[in-house]
Amino acid sequence: MLARDWFYNERNRIGLDTAVASIYDHGEDADLRARSALKMLGLQSGWRIADIGCGNGVLATEAALMGAEVDAIDISPAMLALAEIYARDRKARVRTRSAGLLSFAYEPCSYDLIVSEFTLHHLPDFWKAVALARIHRALKPGASFYLRDIVYVSMPDGGERDVEQWADFHIKNHDFARDSVVAHMRDEYSTFGWVMERMLTDVGFVLVSADYHAPMHGTYLLRKPTPGEQS
Ligand SMILES: C[S@@+](CC[C@H](N)C(=O)[O-])C[C@H]1O[C@@H](n2cnc3c(N)ncnc32)[C@H](O)[C@@H]1O
Repeated sequence: MLARDWFYNERNRIGLDTAVASIYDHGEDADLRARSALKMLGLQSGWRIADIGCGNGVLATEAALMGAEVDAIDISPAMLALAEIYARDRKARVRTRSAGLLSFAYEPCSYDLIVSEFTLHHLPDFWKAVALARIHRALKPGASFYLRDIVYVSMPDGGERDVEQWADFHIKNHDFARDSVVAHMRDEYSTFGWVMERMLTDVGFVLVSADYHAPMHGTYLLRKPTPGEQS
């Protein structure tokens, strides 16, 4: 899509995340969780992968330590600086890219795996679909996309309960301040799980699995069909 005067400015999130970067923490065992997710995804040494919205780079670093060629992409220079330090401390070769879901540069059909965790909700729904279509184009046929995000599982009449449970979960398990958790509801763009599934399949992915687990968390495993499957 060509840049237009109505194009969404994804960089308007930078200030917020720069403030968060200094306190941002994945919690204990984040490296082990990242490694087990990458094993589940069948990561092979030599694969070309991208982590979009890489944050402080734990998953990108684990992928590099497992032998992948990794692009760690984030809109926030502060987050990328943390990712670089994290990777360097572990002697992992990670290539950081200062770009967003709507702007990362890619060769069509070039990645073996793309991961994006807790980042897509920064975009309003139309722009989520634009980002998902870009990710679809960037993947090789048959390759996987692993998406995790904060999504609504129930309709608004159950929403109050879900949001409170979700806020309590993050305050208890991740030590987040309530204000930083509720800012997500006020200022960001989570959508319904069923909207996410429809967007993913409409841009061409095969939905391998959709899992709704911790309060308001959705995990999706997608595959880009091969040309033979499409016909
Ligand atoms: C909640 S953090 C998640 C970080 C990491 N993926 C994780 O799961 O721990 C969201 C990340 O998305 C980044 N971000 C926000 N908007 C973005 C965009 N449009 N494109 C790429 N990254 C974005 C933020 O800078 C931040 O690092």
